Amino acid sequence: MSRGGGGLRTRVKTARGRTAQSTRWLERQLNDPYVKRAKAEGYRSRAAYKLLELDERFALLKGATRVVDLGIAPGGWSQVVRRKLPKAAVVGIDLLPVDPIDGVTILQMDFMDDAAPDRLLAALGGAPDLVLSDMAANTVGHPQTDALRTMALVETAHAFAADVLAPGGTFVAKVFAGGADSALVAEMKRNFATVKHAKPPASRKASSEWYVVAQGFKGRAG
Ligand SMILES: C[S@@+](CC[C@H](N)C(=O)[O-])C[C@H]1O[C@@H](n2cnc3c(N)ncnc32)[C@H](O)[C@@H]1O
Repeated sequence: MSRGGGGLRTRVKTARGRTAQSTRWLERQLNDPYVKRAKAEGYRSRAAYKLLELDERFALLKGATRVVDLGIAPGGWSQVVRRKLPKAAVVGIDLLPVDPIDGVTILQMDFMDDAAPDRLLAALGGAPDLVLSDMAANTVGHPQTDALRTMALVETAHAFAADVLAPGGTFVAKVFAGGADSALVAEMKRNFATVKHAKPPASRKASSEWYVVAQGFKGRAG
C-alpha cells in the first residue's frame, strides 16, 4: 500500500530486530525527495541542500576564498563549496573518517581538541572568510545534556570564527531548539554586522534544527 500524496511510496516491512523507530527512519529516508536528489546529483548527504538553500538566501559562498567546514562528514557541504567555488581552499574536520574529496583537506580529529584551531589554520594557509559548522553532538537521550553539549559546540565554533575570520567574513552554525541562546546571539551581534536565524526547507520540519547566519565580521576585538 502506498501512503501520502502522489508517487510511489516505499513501505518498509517491520523486520525482527529492527525497532519501530529505525523502521520509521528507513521509510522516511527511502521516500525523502532530498535523499533521491542527492543520489541523482552525486551529493553524499541530503544536508548538501541545506547549504545550497542557505546560500540562495544569504549568498554565503559568494567571493569566499578560504573555507572551514566543521563537522564535515560525510562531506555534502564541502562538495557544494567545491562545486560553487572550485578555486577556494577548503579544510574540514570531523570525529568520523571521511572519504577524500578532491581539493579538500580533511582532518579526522575532535574540534574540541585544543590543537584543532592551529591544525585547521595551517591546512588553510591563511585566515578563512567563511566558517561553516554543521556539527551536532551525538545525542545521549538526556535532553538537558544533549542541549548543553550542542551549545558547547556552537559556542566553541563561534569563538574560533571570531578569532580567525578575515574582516567581512561569515559564520554559519547549526543550532537547536529555535536558535542560539540569547547571550551567544548578543556576542555574535557585537562581532558581526548581521545575525539571522533560518530554517532551510531541506531541514526536516520535525527536527528542532535551525541555522544561525552571521555576516560581515567586524574584525578581532582588542
Ligand atoms: C550532520 S553531520 C554533518 C553533515 C555534513 N554537513 C554534510 O553535508 O555531509 C554532523 C557531524 O558533526 C560531527 N561532529 C560532532 N561533534 C564533533 C566534534 N567535536 N568534532 C568534530 N566533528 C564533530 C559528527 O561526527 C557528524 O559527522
